[in-house]
Amino acid sequence: MGAKKINLAVLLSGGGRTLQNIIDRVGEGKLDAKVVVVISSREDAYGLVRAKKAGIETHVVPHKLYKGDDAGSFSQEINKILSGYPIDLIVMAGFMHLFKADERYKGRVMNIHPALIPSFCGKGCYGHHVHQAVLNYGAKVSGVTVHFADDVYDHGPIILQAAVAVKDDDTPDTLAARVFAEECKLYPRAIQLFAEGRLEIKGRRVYIK
Ligand code: GAR
Repeated sequence: MGAKKINLAVLLSGGGRTLQNIIDRVGEGKLDAKVVVVISSREDAYGLVRAKKAGIETHVVPHKLYKGDDAGSFSQEINKILSGYPIDLIVMAGFMHLFKADERYKGRVMNIHPALIPSFCGKGCYGHHVHQAVLNYGAKVSGVTVHFADDVYDHGPIILQAAVAVKDDDTPDTLAARVFAEECKLYPRAIQLFAEGRLEIKGRRVYIK
């Protein structure tokens, strides 16, 4: 630790446990970062309550108002809000939509996905659906992926992955709980590596310096 603190914008759609984990790690001095703004795609997301309790500014861009939006105006609205803050890194934390970041944020948007990309990912494969799909397929291993986001769902260069064994008696909930425990370790680690300037993107590969 001890690197210069970077400013984070967090995008979320739901409960905000991922946001809470980041807030808690920052509070413990284990992450050289500060969450300066939270943007939610739903006005009823509990993540907004968590953000307000932590004194973080919040905005809502309701995705339901942008159904069938091919022009990317949902993303543009988010980009407009982001431009009002000095953001170093955009962190997607349970954000359930495609976000097309402005060019100026290229290589500065991270996402976490609760499976081993390129398996069990893509449009419609999020949250609980991921773990159900893993069990339906009979996979023996699942896990967590943290990656830089680009303009395709769950596609950009991979930063860190961790595997989680699937147990015979797993339900989507029990698997999700073990995967989430790994998420809580991996996302802060990836953000800290970024804060320390140790992530180098070359094509699809991310090198840790
Ligand atoms: C997390 O497990 C995250 O990995 C997953 O949603 C959950 C969000 O929980 N994200 C995706 O599936 C994105 N494709 P939270 O809202 O309580 O932070």
